[in-house]
Amino acid sequence: MSLISQEDINKVRNSANIVDVIGNYISLTPKGKNFFAVCPFHEDHNPSMSVSPDKQIYRCFVCGNTGNVFTFVEKFLGISFAEAVFMVAKACGVTLSSEQTLKKEDKFQKEHELMALVLKIYQNNLHAYEGEKALAYLQNRGLLDDTIKEFEIGLSLNKNILHDLLKEKEYGDKMLEDLGLINCNEKEFLDVFRNRILFPIHDLNGYVVGFTGRCYLTDIVPKYLNTKETYLFKKGKVLFNYHRARDAIRLNKTLILVEGNMDAIRLSSVGIKNVVALMGTSLTKEQIEALKKLRVHLILMLDNDDAGESATYSIGNLLEEQSFSFSVVRLNGAKDPDEYVVQFGKEAMMNNLEKSFSFMDFKLNYLKKNKNLDEISDLSEYIKSVIANLKKSQDNVLKEVTLQKLVKDYNISYDVLREQLGTEEKLEKMEKKPLTKNNPRINGYDKLCETILFYMMNGGDFIRLFQNHIGVFPEQKHRLIANEILYYYEKYKTICLADFITYIETNDLKDKILEIISREEGVELNNEVMLECIKLFDLKVKERKISEIKEKIKNEFDVYKKMELTKKLTELKKEVF
Ligand code: GTP
Ligand code: MN
Repeated sequence: MSLISQEDINKVRNSANIVDVIGNYISLTPKGKNFFAVCPFHEDHNPSMSVSPDKQIYRCFVCGNTGNVFTFVEKFLGISFAEAVFMVAKACGVTLSSEQTLKKEDKFQKEHELMALVLKIYQNNLHAYEGEKALAYLQNRGLLDDTIKEFEIGLSLNKNILHDLLKEKEYGDKMLEDLGLINCNEKEFLDVFRNRILFPIHDLNGYVVGFTGRCYLTDIVPKYLNTKETYLFKKGKVLFNYHRARDAIRLNKTLILVEGNMDAIRLSSVGIKNVVALMGTSLTKEQIEALKKLRVHLILMLDNDDAGESATYSIGNLLEEQSFSFSVVRLNGAKDPDEYVVQFGKEAMMNNLEKSFSFMDFKLNYLKKNKNLDEISDLSEYIKSVIANLKKSQDNVLKEVTLQKLVKDYNISYDVLREQLGTEEKLEKMEKKPLTKNNPRINGYDKLCETILFYMMNGGDFIRLFQNHIGVFPEQKHRLIANEILYYYEKYKTICLADFITYIETNDLKDKILEIISREEGVELNNEVMLECIKLFDLKVKERKISEIKEKIKNEFDVYKKMELTKKLTELKKEVF
């Protein structure tokens, strides 16, 4: 956020019309003063999102998603705030005075430059005389020159070259070593990658942060060598091909998740470009976050071996926990998506993708593995494991259909299955109980304070009323927001909700403010109602004080102090009643 000045942000926000910008992404229908759309942020079937040209904010009255033009672009495209500001600026032809500084502020500018340079060196190697065999290997695997270029595939030679090539530059050996490019010992500088075909790995923003190198002359172990963990390359945070696939994923509203980089390259080379690879069989929290940002349906298509199958089960469970919309493809007749396409072609692959099936269908099969369902103990274990899997689902139809299928396939009484599921669900609920503790329901007093805060966000009169009658909120959480509003008002002499949203930098605070706007948007805004709220607030504060004093009196042993407190209590009570 700090990369772009507040002035620039306001300039862009004021030049952009939220209706035009949102209208570029989803279709809007005018109705009264506002525009309406099917909300893209939840599974919506009716137009639940309203866009207000007056206020320059949007709000979904079903899922509560709300914000200004930047929030929308940020969430819709899954990009950062700064990127959203740039996109909107570009769309409405505003030049930012801070555009230059964005480049300068790349914290790892030097490192990124170095990695890009090293990538160029590797790419050159592949096309040099010494790269003949490696290039032949790639061509043998059916990769065209265009694909090699697109994926920036390179080669490390069978000698140490990086240090010598780069010593004229000002990077220093330490940086080369820290980024996992060379190893230094007393005598020499050794290239980490020797004699391997190299695939650059980019972070989510598209910077090269590491490499994965495949052996190609003889099968050696390891088959793939990755850059060690460095401060740029965190294996758990990257996804191969994410930055390239992003547009295609949005266009297709689907993302295909595969295991290996070669799977991603192959699918992409035949025109299936919405594909991202795990580089293995595990999925981290950060990777899940990155995928979630795209808000599209995911197709999980891992290798056709046991490891791929278990990974489908474990990754599927993670995705399910995160309420992803996803389905599964299991391939037949080839080891992985790469080989499948080579052997059967693009059409056959498309066919598999179109026929992707639900995770439950996958599990019904997977849980049968290594079981002989003719045996009573195996069968009962199987049925129980299916039910244990069903208990987590929120989907009642799925539950019903699955139970019916079990009844049909295994001739078991429906009532017995239902009862078992009921028991499992109860247990599940009990385990989940602590969750609600972190998510306390908002109480009447908090709600009232937030309504007052919402009024304040709507301008001068309300701010003055607050200052004259309340001044300070007793509680920190409300005070924090009030302070932001007052500071903003002081600085700009006016307050506009749409600008105020982007002015808030702390994420937690911003979320809270968006939540308040989402809930309160649409309440009647006039001084009388605000004064009513203030009166009520005053009363509630006193009531709270009364119960506080009562509590104190109960715990006070000193008679004089007790008397003093009682006196205070009587006074307060007089004011309230
Ligand atoms: P090809 O054999 O070239 O077709 O590779 P692949 O894409 O089919 O890879 P595979 O399915 O064997 O493995 C999936 C992913 O796991 C690879 O893309 C690598 O990122 C990773 N991987 C595979 N083998 C190794 C290894 O020996 N070491 C490391 N660190 N990673 C590996
Ligand atoms: Mn493969």
